Amino acid sequence: MKSVTVKTELKEYDIDFRSGFYGISDTIEKSGVKGSKICVITDDNIEQLYGDEVKEALLKNFKEVYIKSFTKGEKSKNLDTISDIYKFLLENHFDRKCAVAGLGGGVAGDMAGFVAATYMRGIEFIQIPTSLLAEVDSSVGGKTGVDFCGSKNIIGAFYQPSFVYINIDTLKTLPKREFSAGMAEVIKYGIILSKDFYNFISENREKIKSMDIDTMTEVIAKCCEFKAFVVSNDEKEKGMRAILNYGHTIGHAVESLKEFELIHGECVGIGMVAAMKISCDRGVITEKDLNEFEELLTYFDIPVKTKGLNPEDVYSQMFNDKKVSDSKINFVLVDNEIGKSYVTSEISKDEIIKAISYVVE
Ligand code: GLY
Repeated sequence: MKSVTVKTELKEYDIDFRSGFYGISDTIEKSGVKGSKICVITDDNIEQLYGDEVKEALLKNFKEVYIKSFTKGEKSKNLDTISDIYKFLLENHFDRKCAVAGLGGGVAGDMAGFVAATYMRGIEFIQIPTSLLAEVDSSVGGKTGVDFCGSKNIIGAFYQPSFVYINIDTLKTLPKREFSAGMAEVIKYGIILSKDFYNFISENREKIKSMDIDTMTEVIAKCCEFKAFVVSNDEKEKGMRAILNYGHTIGHAVESLKEFELIHGECVGIGMVAAMKISCDRGVITEKDLNEFEELLTYFDIPVKTKGLNPEDVYSQMFNDKKVSDSKINFVLVDNEIGKSYVTSEISKDEIIKAISYVVE
């Protein structure tokens, strides 16, 4: 089965692709992860689906396996949930030699990572993503954290896992809406890094949408390679890693204002259309490119517009984001053609408002 390696300054680790959860034992041994106990942090839905299976698989390597779950959804991604998890670890006498696993989507992985980074100043951490979005993006690269006071991921830490284990079969239980949201991040890699990959998605759209397992394994592994390449070059987002925020500048603002009505990947879809509109208005890409992009997102049921927001409110909300430095918004734009991108703060309010108005009906 496939493996992709992520190399960062502090850590080198594998993303392993397997069918089922039982292969995790080999991955644990290969990675050298040790410990007497492990706490699996997950949401209530994933606990019900996979809790027992994952526990049984982990019992091969850990004497005690605990599961701590929270209510599914972005609303749980806050310091109260983190506090609950710390209490749980303390009550169960977790010490520095114990481990934490993030099982599920981005919310579980980001919070598990934050707990691992901060509990006793850092304990062993592994990622077991089960959503497409987590598999292609959030479980890889060490960004961990929570939302705070209406701002997305504003409290957090960079903390790399010791490995990422992807059980490709979990796609079978993924709700359609979450699959679509994950596809927004998949398509993002094509836009920012590879026209070939963008064309591959477009040409294989039917196989992808029907979740053909070989095609999906290829797609997810390719996304992990892209992510590993970017993170290996710029672990702490001092430069090129920021291109992964394509669509996130407006997307995060929409997500915060929609009060969790839309899920992350959906907002990224809307944000990517807005960013693409800026490139189109600048004459960098054609209207045909923009239309085809919207059509591809729509094919995967990713929203390209949203209702009930005021463009000025979206604009103001953008300033509560980590992507703002010296009161300037850092924007990721397509550079000359799809498949190439760059970060810039040379962008006027008028351009941004025009782009927001395009996606806010
Ligand atoms: N999701 C963007 C990043 O990991 O940098």
